[in-house]
Formats: sequence, C-alpha cells, structure tokens
Amino acid sequence: MLGGVRTSRLPTPISMYLGLDLGTSAVKAVLVDDTQSVVASATAPLSTSRPFAGASEQAPEDWWRAAVETCARLRQAAPAAWTSVKAVGLSGQMHGAVLLDAQGEVLRPAILWNDGRSVAQCRMLERAVPALAHVAGVHAMPGFTAPKLLWVREHEPDVFARIATVLLPKDHLRFRMTGVRVTDASDAAGTLWFDQAARTWSLPLVAASGLTPDQLPPVIEGTEPSATLRDDIADGLGLPRGIPVAGGGGDAAAGAVGIGAVEEGDAFVSLGTSGQVFTVTAWYDSDPAGVVHAFAHCVPGRWYRMGALLNGASCLAWVARLVGAVDLPALLDRVEAQTDASGSLLFLPYLTGERTPHDNADARGVFFGLDSETTPERLVRAVLEGVAFAVAEAAECLAKDEPLAEMLGVIGGGSKSRLWLRILASVLDRPLVRYAASDIGPAYGAARLARACVSRESVRETCGEPAAIDVVMPDPEWVERYRARGPRFRRLYRTLAAEFRAGD
Ligand code: XUL
Repeated sequence: MLGGVRTSRLPTPISMYLGLDLGTSAVKAVLVDDTQSVVASATAPLSTSRPFAGASEQAPEDWWRAAVETCARLRQAAPAAWTSVKAVGLSGQMHGAVLLDAQGEVLRPAILWNDGRSVAQCRMLERAVPALAHVAGVHAMPGFTAPKLLWVREHEPDVFARIATVLLPKDHLRFRMTGVRVTDASDAAGTLWFDQAARTWSLPLVAASGLTPDQLPPVIEGTEPSATLRDDIADGLGLPRGIPVAGGGGDAAAGAVGIGAVEEGDAFVSLGTSGQVFTVTAWYDSDPAGVVHAFAHCVPGRWYRMGALLNGASCLAWVARLVGAVDLPALLDRVEAQTDASGSLLFLPYLTGERTPHDNADARGVFFGLDSETTPERLVRAVLEGVAFAVAEAAECLAKDEPLAEMLGVIGGGSKSRLWLRILASVLDRPLVRYAASDIGPAYGAARLARACVSRESVRETCGEPAAIDVVMPDPEWVERYRARGPRFRRLYRTLAAEFRAGD
C-alpha cells in the first residue's frame, strides 16, 4: 500500500469494474478485473462533525471530493485498466438523510446513521403507524432516515419546506455522476419508509414523516443499471463515456455481496466503523421484537436479518487515540504480547448508543473494573473483548429462531487484526473465515454489482464465495473464560440502563 493506493500487475485489461464505497471514515474505491481480482484500491479519509451532543453530520461535497480523489488515484495506479471500466457500482453508509432542493442543491449537512437526535420523533412515528416495525422491518430508532426528517420539520421548517428529494448517501454520489435520482432496494430498506415485503415505498410510512412519494427516488434492484455517467463527469474522471452505474447497495448488503452471502443461511460478521451480524433469507422475515433488522437485500428475491451495532472498529480507533497510539498494528502487537483472556476489566462499547439489542440512543461507553494495575494495553484488550461480546449478543438475537451458521465469514477493517478475530471466534465459539478483499468488503461488493448490471451471468455466478485467506479458530481456553464473563457483560448494561436514560 503506497499513499493510500494498492496495485497488482495485470497483463491485458479487458473488462474492469469500479466499486465505490462511501464509508463513514473514508471513501474506498476498488478496481476489479474479469477474473474478480483486485487490480488497484484507494482510500480518501472523511471527517464527521458533531455540532451538538449525539449529533453526527457530514458534508455531501466532501463525499464527492473524496470519491474524485480515489478515482484519480486508481487512474494513476492502473491507467490502462482504468480506460477499460465497463460499469460502476456504489455502496455506502446507510440511513443518512441528504436533502436536495428542486435545483439539486444540498440544503443542509447530511445527518448520519449514528446520529441520535431524533429519539422523540421515533415515538411519534410508532404512534402514527403502529404496524411500522412489521412493514419497515425494524422499530423506529434515531439512526434511520424517517425520524431525521421529522426532526428537520420541527427544528428547521424552512429547510423542510424546500425539500424536493431525500437521497441516501451513496445515491448522492450517483446523482453527482449521472444527474439521476435513484436508490436501490437495500438502501431504501434502511429508511423506515420501505415496505420490505413488497420492495416499494410504503405510502402510510412516507406520509407519517410529512413527505410524499414524489420526494423519494425511484427504487431499483442493486444489480440493475440505474443511469449512465454524465459525459462531463466521465471526461473529468478519465472513464469511458456512456458506462452504466448499477443500483448498488447499502454497505451492509454490498459487503454481503462481496463475500458471496446471497443465498439463504449465508452469514457473516462485519467489523467496520459500525458492526453487523448478517444472515440471508429467501423471504421477508420480520422480528416481532423489532430489534433485529429485516431488510431487503441488494440482489433480487433476497432479504436479510441483521443485528446492527453502532460501534464496531470505531471503538478501536477511539481507544487507540485515547492511549496516544499512532501505529495501530504496533499497538495490537503489544496488546497481544502483554495481555491474555484472564483479565476482568469489562468495556461496554456503546460510544454512540446502540441499536441491537438495546435500541438505546442514550447508552454510552463504560469501563468497569479499573484498578491501579490497569495498563493502556489492558484497556485496548477490554475494548476488543467488549465489541466481541456485543457482537455475540446481537448474534443471539438472530439465532432465536434458527441457529446461526457453524462457521461465519468476517469482513471490515477490524478483520485485519488476527488478535481481534481470535477473541471474536472464542466469544462466538465459531471459526471465522477471512476472504481476499475482506477489509474492503462493501467496495468489492459494489464492483460485483457493477459487473452484474452489464453481464448476462446469474447473481450466483457473479457473487460466488471468494478465495478464503485463512480461518481463525476459537481458542478452547479463551472460550471457557469468555463464556464465564459474557453474562457479567450483559448484566452490566442492564444495571446501568436507567442511568443512561437519566441524561446528565
Ligand atoms: C447498517 C448501519 C451501518 C451504516 C454505516 O444498518 O447502520 O452499516 O450503514 O456503516
């Protein structure tokens, strides 16, 4: 990896596919060839602003700038391959609200998936449409798009009055590239306006936010072409004119496509900025408790059930900053050398609240059991373990009806740490499979969706299981230790739940 760009040698490029993932911490771009090998990848960082406690916003203009920067790097790294791009696929952070006026201008910064401002509006939505969780696949929680719009209506009525279109984050990139306002079923799924079973906007849900369906983009499948690049954009990026942009997918669904999770029962864990436990279904299977998300997948005829954690690898980045570490791999090496599974320190990873299973935007992080011997390495280890316990709790919600797969895939930036995977495998008591391109899963999935929109292949052909790099096994001794500690982790949250709600 050199200056945020990775390349591999390639003889004669024939067909290339560009995958762009609009993450929360960075835009990631990947160029994938006919054999589904990664030819080059690049990232450009993004920052988040927190204008008040619990708020989380980004400027869509920054997304576009970062996307253009990654494209420029790919073009520089693989110039011949770049001119052979046949289609573009998009993936992105879900649930965000991008508000456009009639001219297509952005009305205010985008409110993101990890923004907790709209707790009161969630209650209003549930009251207005009692069947909400059943239709929309999950209870109203502040991260989703609909309550954000109610918040804007209440707090920024002038902005609300000028809204011509609400777009999801990745669809704003599409709008910049093609001039067309479209979304795909998997991103529509995360808004609380979507009828998951019918895969269309739900009129009563849309109306409950004070919107009309013409303020929402048309919905297509992730594997379908949405529109072609504008000529001026193609020329500026150095891409061939007239190439299509696929429907694409929300990052959870596109990550699934990246590791071939498109058939019923396929399951994996994602350790990106957020975290997910994800399992594919062949029908819409909503959770009566409404904390497991039942959403449309980005491939036709598939849905998924997901336990969604608001705080995944973001916790590791946070604790690394806290202990003043700049070199993350070196920090993790020290943690591995200086700590073991016998510590009793516990960490609740709810830095920005939690969705599954707690549905509590007010929850916050906790270290419990600090003593005079606690070292920075021990803090970091407790963070890795705390996220793993949270993943296990979400996995248990998913496994209530059907046992989870015996072996799980793992994707996302956090999957680069073997130590973290050993901890997670031991907490879950399951082997974890790491695939080629696991760390850039959604971008790779987006490139596959690009291929799907121009090829005549079946989804199964395009979205097979990539080569496994390794399998991380549970450590029998750690399994026992974590099994003993898990119940305490869960009790700790329950003991503190009322305190989080108390506010100050
Ligand atoms: C999924 C979720 C996150 C965001 C940001 O429900 O909230 O995956 O899409 O990554």
